[in-house]
Amino acid sequence: MTEFLLISDLDDTLLGDPAALRRFSAWWKKHGTCARLVYASGRFYESIAQSITEHDLPAAHAVIGGVGSEIRLYPSGEWIDAWREDLSRQWDLQAIRRALQRFSRLELQPRQYQSPYKLSYYLRDAACEELESVRCTAERSHGPVEMVYSSQRDLDLLPPGVNKGSAAAFISWYWQYRKRQVIVCGDSGNDLAMLQRRFRGVVVANGAEDVKHLRDPDIYVASRSYADGVIEGLDYWLRRESPGNKL
Ligand code: GLC
Ligand code: MG
Repeated sequence: MTEFLLISDLDDTLLGDPAALRRFSAWWKKHGTCARLVYASGRFYESIAQSITEHDLPAAHAVIGGVGSEIRLYPSGEWIDAWREDLSRQWDLQAIRRALQRFSRLELQPRQYQSPYKLSYYLRDAACEELESVRCTAERSHGPVEMVYSSQRDLDLLPPGVNKGSAAAFISWYWQYRKRQVIVCGDSGNDLAMLQRRFRGVVVANGAEDVKHLRDPDIYVASRSYADGVIEGLDYWLRRESPGNKL
């Protein structure tokens, strides 16, 4: 059986079609015995853990939460400290928040979506210039920040270099997988960094414009949606690596 690492987004990727998710769980039971599974989400560990219990999601080995701002083992919840220690360098959330106060269109997301290492706003239908202006203002007062815009609505500010892509690269390195053994799946802007890391990428058919435009030999755009698209992408990458299904 093939050894590989699946790192998948949850909302609107694995989650969204319960019947498809049941098919994914069955697929994973059959083909995932030698593989590891990581959920990468904009949500935090507790909320992801709740989804694992409430839905038909297979238990993960680890969770990338808060758009990459946390990496924790599952089900213990144990932090991977090497990742956490790096976060506080060059990061002053309050300074960014103060600097962004003058943008009246920025609406702070509810408290449960904020953390010491993730500052999240709603900003509906932002144009590139508006996003650039937010970025410049934040960076003028703070220095480099990571800014992630998803689904024409969610704007996340994170410590420089922190996103789902760098967190996925870290965990692949931590568990010693080669890039070609890592399959990443997503549907929207906060998955972009992960899809552009030269892993094996999968974009589900219901994906947002943020990622649907990607044309890259390392990215497979599925014709099916949600968890069915994930299965389709996994089959595509695993079959391509035969004979013997070696990645
Ligand atoms: C999740 C998070 C939210 C974030 C969004 C996009 O919905 O809860 O805070 O802005 O993902 O990354
Ligand atoms: Mg998503």
